[in-house]
Amino acid sequence: MGRLIVVSNRVALPRRGEPTAGGLAVALKDVLKANGGLWFGWSGETTKGPTTGELKTVRYQGIDYATIDLNENDYKGFYAGYSNNILWPLFHFRIGLLEYDRKQADAYRRVNRDFAKALMPLLGPDDTIWIHDYQMIPLGAELRALGAKQRIGFFLHIPFPPWAVFSALPGADKLLRGLLAYDLVGVQTQRDLSGMIDCMRHGLDLRTDADCGVVSSAWGPKRRTQLSHHAIGIDTRGFATTARKAAFGPDAQRMRASMGDRKLIVGAERLDYTKGLPHRLRGFGALLDNFPEHRNRVTYFQVAARSRNEVASYRDLKRELDTLAGRINGDHAEFDWTPVRYVARAVARDTLAGFYRLADVGLVTPLRDGMNLVAKEYVAAQDPDNPGVLVLSSFAGAAETMDGALLVNPLDAEAMAEQLDRALKMPLGERKERWAGMMAGLEEQTAARWAENFLTELEEQVLPVEPPTGL
Ligand code: G6P
Repeated sequence: MGRLIVVSNRVALPRRGEPTAGGLAVALKDVLKANGGLWFGWSGETTKGPTTGELKTVRYQGIDYATIDLNENDYKGFYAGYSNNILWPLFHFRIGLLEYDRKQADAYRRVNRDFAKALMPLLGPDDTIWIHDYQMIPLGAELRALGAKQRIGFFLHIPFPPWAVFSALPGADKLLRGLLAYDLVGVQTQRDLSGMIDCMRHGLDLRTDADCGVVSSAWGPKRRTQLSHHAIGIDTRGFATTARKAAFGPDAQRMRASMGDRKLIVGAERLDYTKGLPHRLRGFGALLDNFPEHRNRVTYFQVAARSRNEVASYRDLKRELDTLAGRINGDHAEFDWTPVRYVARAVARDTLAGFYRLADVGLVTPLRDGMNLVAKEYVAAQDPDNPGVLVLSSFAGAAETMDGALLVNPLDAEAMAEQLDRALKMPLGERKERWAGMMAGLEEQTAARWAENFLTELEEQVLPVEPPTGL
């Protein structure tokens, strides 16, 4: 039995005092602890000289990590450039934001090749490799080019758009062809799977078989690539416990004291244009405009953790939010009430968990989102005897299964206001019923179950038969 090798751009090591954010880190740490293995990725450091691929190895909280430094310019082209200014908007259906630059496309290839070269000597013949997310799409093909025969799986954490959107990318077919190097490609939802199948068909002229596999010889002997969807979850029990404890902690106490008898709406994410933050502020503004009974009776608390500041569209968004939050407060605040409390930095996970539990409404309104774990965490954090209501964008992957939420189209501020009003007035019986259904789903579909299901499916794949080498 080989080891499990997890690969992602960011590994779950603390970086310069920053908390390791993101559901991915939380989910994968547990799998590696349980299965043994290695987590491989970028060290968080860049160098002026060429990328050497020299490995930095460390054991942290029971997990082995191997990381490499990357050349500064390559990293910029790979991360801020191709990954986050080209692929990120493309996969989130925002082709108007995509700023294509061939040099960045080259840097993306180069960095993936550097990762492959550094990883290759670490691999044993029976290891299973699991690569994560859009920063690493060509890594499987780079490993195959170096002779890797192992089972390799890939999981895309963000949405997969159909070909009509995907084809906007120069070299779209080349990027897609990279997926054929994997034995299994997983996406979050049925909707994403349809997008990927559509791309295979129209971008590469490949049709899926009855079990949703595509066969090609793009990277050596004929290989069948299984396509499937696996919705990521959270550590539901763990998060519920954290929230229960945090609700009695000093931050939650201060929050409660500051609220008086007003209700609380909460939102928390990276400051990212996919999250629909301006739309959410407009929705809340419409609530105060159209439902005056909520004025001075409800506060909206939004955490928007600064993210990808190297990319101009993220800086623009920060300015837009500053203006909008200021305007709503200017229009509606009273001397003893600030309608919007907006914090543009990360808040510790435990503290957030406590705030989720206090909040009457969790407001999660992305314009597109692979899954959205905040929606799941908000539900897991609730008090079963007095749960809050989740108001959720129908464009979040989570909406496919969380049918106890009040669904909204974030583009419609008035509709958002109506759903917020409904959530704030919802009777206890209905709140409990909606919450219990969603919580049962979350207890079933945990992060650990997600990883287990993906890895089981990966192990089931039949590897290509190698042609006999000379007698
Ligand atoms: C999303 C992506 C991850 C990424 C994370 C944080 O969740 O799916 O791949 O790591 O955002 O973004 P960052 O650019 O800071 O790594």
